[in-house]
Amino acid sequence: MHDNAKGEIKMEKVEKFLKEAGTYYLATVEGDQPRVRPFGTAHIFEGKLYIQTGKVKDVSKQIHANPKVEVCAFKEGTWLRVAGELVEDDRREARQSMLDAYPSLQKMYSADDGNTEVFYFKDATAVFSSFTSEPEIIKF
Ligand SMILES: Cc1cc2nc3c(=O)[nH]c(=O)nc-3n(C[C@H](O)[C@H](O)[C@H](O)COP(=O)(O)O)c2cc1C
Repeated sequence: MHDNAKGEIKMEKVEKFLKEAGTYYLATVEGDQPRVRPFGTAHIFEGKLYIQTGKVKDVSKQIHANPKVEVCAFKEGTWLRVAGELVEDDRREARQSMLDAYPSLQKMYSADDGNTEVFYFKDATAVFSSFTSEPEIIKF
């Protein structure tokens, strides 16, 4: 199998875990202060893993100032951490793809509202951990 195809299957495992966990926690940095909050959006578009937020939020301002983030989710004895950089994709089709994947967001957001924004993970390292097995590391 081609390496990219393998990478995508592994990224799908990360997306699936985040969706099944329902809530994950997104950590950013603000100066020397860590910030963390619950998030839920996780969506693969054109082979990249995206999250969604609003430009008006502090979390957005923090990501633009320093794109290094980490997310953590926990489900059924396994926890997942994904560390990497977020890159904004300012294309309308990227925003719309996210909104199509999360119809509930359409009450608050639209692709052209000037607030909705989507970021994809770059140079991401995902680690699945549990107390009973060796860590599984996925890079994408
Ligand atoms: C379960 C859950 C999922 C959430 N998912 C998102 C999300 O995907 N994107 C988002 O921008 N806010 C989401 N929120 C809201 C943020 O947690 C909230 O706006 C937070 O205050 C943003 O961080 P900030 O205050 O540092 O800007 C979610 C909240 C909850 C409770």
